[in-house]
Amino acid sequence: MKTVVLAYSGGLDTSCIIPWLKDKGYHTIAFIADIGQGENFNKIKKRALKTGASKVYCLNLQKEYITDYVFPALKAGAVYEQKYFLACALSRPLIAKHQVLIAKKEKANAIVHGCTGKGNDQVRFEVTARMMDPKIEIIAPVRIWEFKTRNEEIDYLKSKNIMLSVTKKSPYSIDTNIYGRAIECGVLEDPWREPPEEVFAMTVSPQKAPNKAIYVTVDFEKGLPKKINGKAYDPVSLIKKLNLIGGKNGVGRVDMVENRLVGIKTREVYENPAGTILHFALHELESLVLDRDTMRHKQASSQRYAELIYTGLWSTPLKKQLDKYFDKIHENTTGTVRLKLYKGNCTVAGRKSKFSRYKEAIATYGEKDIFDQKQAEGFVKLWGMPFHS
Ligand code: ARG
Repeated sequence: MKTVVLAYSGGLDTSCIIPWLKDKGYHTIAFIADIGQGENFNKIKKRALKTGASKVYCLNLQKEYITDYVFPALKAGAVYEQKYFLACALSRPLIAKHQVLIAKKEKANAIVHGCTGKGNDQVRFEVTARMMDPKIEIIAPVRIWEFKTRNEEIDYLKSKNIMLSVTKKSPYSIDTNIYGRAIECGVLEDPWREPPEEVFAMTVSPQKAPNKAIYVTVDFEKGLPKKINGKAYDPVSLIKKLNLIGGKNGVGRVDMVENRLVGIKTREVYENPAGTILHFALHELESLVLDRDTMRHKQASSQRYAELIYTGLWSTPLKKQLDKYFDKIHENTTGTVRLKLYKGNCTVAGRKSKFSRYKEAIATYGEKDIFDQKQAEGFVKLWGMPFHS
């Protein structure tokens, strides 16, 4: 029998994949990636073995996820179609990378994922894996198997004498990790329908949030968040802390219709408190320390970077070059941003940096003004000259 490594979530699809592959002559090694989805991993491990996995790997990838994936995307200001902070999209190349490493270690013949043929995730998994090993065999059972409904999958498992405690299917498809949640399907498929309160788990509704605003300071060093309210946090704890603070105040809800790579428009609801706060705060700090041209130029690159993440092109040359560009841009993005969170809003209350380009003596209309207004006369004439002379 051949051996494959499956990216295993513990859900019905990936549980069904294991006996399905056995029928086709494959042993399955199940790989569980802990990226902070808050599951009971022991239970998932047992489930993998119960459905016939020959071995299980469970790796805690939370730190790598935040440090090597989420933070570079933050420095890049990468937000897909102006709304999506890419929590799911960023996790896929990380999972694929470890899956391929396990496959190599185990001398497996193929890797397997449970993505559908309609989504972006299949692209992210497969492009990453093939960039590591162009010859790697990839099996995507959900794209080719005979099951059309959940019940057919359950019946199939029963026919193999595998009794899983399948909880009643949530009407939603949910993807969660430490950085955020994505919710789709069910009533959300009608883009006119307001998301029901039950879809949210990380955030309270703005109406239920406290009636009093809270202030939070975030300290950045070279574009990376280091402290909250003056206290240092490691990357994982920092994200958790901001999720809590933001979530309590109803910050981080997004409702959008987005364009998938495969050409389908889809309605997604997201929860991303930490991402909302951090992207906003970093932008505020940038407004103080970056010169005008750099800020404008950066915008186009941010959008490009978000598209690379979204479309599975994480490990490409352009992405690596852009990382160098953003590292350079953030040489002076060190300072503090003071935010005000109130009923779903995250607004700025103040920002400061030792590298600030803001010059009060030039900007002021007060007594300390050193700006020579007389010089403006010639400047304005020359500026408009091409159009009025
Ligand atoms: N649309 C998002 C993406 O492509 C999230 C996909 C997973 N969403 C979900 N609700 N299961 O990255």
